[in-house]
Amino acid sequence: MRPDSLVMAAPEGSLRKRKVGGAEHSPASQPSLARDPADSPARLHTGTFWLTRIVLLRALAFIYFVAFLVAFNQNKALIGDRGLLPCKLYLKNVQEYFQGSTGWAAWTYAPTIMWLLDWSDMNFNLDLIALLGLGISSFVLVTGCANMILMTALWALYMSLVNVGQIWYSFGWESQLLETGFLGIFLSPLWTLSRLPKNTPTSQIVLWGFRWLIFRIMLGAGLIKVRGDKCWLDLTCMDFHYETQPVPNPIAYYLHRSPWWFHRFETLSNHFVELLVPFFLFLGRRMRILHGVLQILFQVILIISGNLSFLNWLTIVPSLACFDDAALGFLFPSGPQGLKKQVLEIQREDTQRVQPKPRDRGCLVRQVVNISLGILVAWLSVPVVINLLSSRQIMNTSFNPLRIVNTYGAFGSVTKERTEVILQGTVSPNASAPDAVWEDYEFKCKPGDPWRQPCLISPYHYRLDWLMWFAAFQTYEQNEWILHLAGKLLAGDSEALALLAVNPFEGRTPPRWIRGEHYRYKFSLPGGQHATQGKWWIRKRIGPYFPPLRLEDLKEYFKTREWPLPEPPSRHTR
Ligand SMILES: *[C@@H]1O[C@H](CO)[C@@H](O)[C@H](O)[C@H]1NC(C)=O
Repeated sequence: MRPDSLVMAAPEGSLRKRKVGGAEHSPASQPSLARDPADSPARLHTGTFWLTRIVLLRALAFIYFVAFLVAFNQNKALIGDRGLLPCKLYLKNVQEYFQGSTGWAAWTYAPTIMWLLDWSDMNFNLDLIALLGLGISSFVLVTGCANMILMTALWALYMSLVNVGQIWYSFGWESQLLETGFLGIFLSPLWTLSRLPKNTPTSQIVLWGFRWLIFRIMLGAGLIKVRGDKCWLDLTCMDFHYETQPVPNPIAYYLHRSPWWFHRFETLSNHFVELLVPFFLFLGRRMRILHGVLQILFQVILIISGNLSFLNWLTIVPSLACFDDAALGFLFPSGPQGLKKQVLEIQREDTQRVQPKPRDRGCLVRQVVNISLGILVAWLSVPVVINLLSSRQIMNTSFNPLRIVNTYGAFGSVTKERTEVILQGTVSPNASAPDAVWEDYEFKCKPGDPWRQPCLISPYHYRLDWLMWFAAFQTYEQNEWILHLAGKLLAGDSEALALLAVNPFEGRTPPRWIRGEHYRYKFSLPGGQHATQGKWWIRKRIGPYFPPLRLEDLKEYFKTREWPLPEPPSRHTR
């Protein structure tokens, strides 16, 4: 792909002409170029961030793409018209709470463009938002250029989903994506679509915004750990983490069996990266690059050892702001038409210019915008910093409705034991009959069938599987959606079944009863007796999670929740 073909037609023809014209005559007017042999191109200078912006935009667009893809595939079943927690009901509740108005109060409580749309077909709205997001993010991902309008659209679209997503969107990485995406808006020119918008160099304020973000993420994660759980202090957390993390992968299965001293070493390294390395950001260019390298390496290790959604991929994004053009040059081919060459030109023009570039009004407005951004972020950071310093630090919280500056933290405490909720169904007319055969439903990715290999899906994410992990240390009363799911399984509802991997009643009439069972899960020992039988997990029943239920038992419950009762299946008499 030639870069010039990718520079999207700028709205002003003059800009494009200027660019082409500049590239034509500049080699002749650059005496220094002649000194460089053709096969060893001149090195990029430090301190400019043209390539950094392209890498940042592409990385951010990739995360948005994954996030909107998850939304497109799962939203209808989770929050659609017949979803497990319909977003229409949620918005109606918000509206009622604020006395039936869709006024300012409701808007700030749940900022979403859903308020402006017609609610008669929420599935359509959800798909529309997700598809727009997919379209814009793929454009930025492929071309590497963006403007403020596109980046604002991505941010507003994703915000619109997060704020109607309820518990399914309650994870820290959703706010983190919104905050990263908000900063991303200020990376690009307002309107021009160009990979190298010469009049808008990457703003230092925005770069420091990203660095401040990664600083808070890492330090927050480090502090919540040493304050939250004894195992982070006696260095035993990693003895448990691989087995008890939300959605383990096959590599975690083996890492779990690392020698004890290795687990201690891992925990110590974690503290080093989260508590000490963040301060490298303030120690000059070299240390900043070292910071970027260490943080990215750390996230790559986390990606390999678990399915934490797109969280670790997203955490790489702000670290990219640690690298300048000289550090990122290796990512770009150095052809005669290449971006690297163009950046070299810009750098030369800047160093050779005797008098400073005349500033036009656009530049001035730009500066005002950037400085306002800096002040806004600083102002919104006050409660975040107070929280970081407080001994009662809370994690993953936003202090403002637009989630612009948030507080983060992950795995403040590590569960020491893994339990799972297993949904089972039976066709037996009598659920308490000893000869009733109960068959397991399998989720897409969470542990269930002990023989099934753990999955590897990061950066993709199954929201239902993740919440099943939380549900396992709570009760079904705290997770009403699980009864909604049970009702849908009793009716053989295809939308709900699409959230699962295996329906044991596939091709048969749906079960008469569904129950939830609570199990304890442990990894089998590689090479041990269970592993040689092909088992990845060993499980032991703890007790019931929710009692056997029929569709008719749920009628009243569904009515009070305003969920439509699924059509009972037509049953063949046997
Ligand atoms: C169901 O099975 C249990 C246990 O065998 C029995 O006590 C009960 O009477 C049965 N209920 C019905 C309605 O058949």
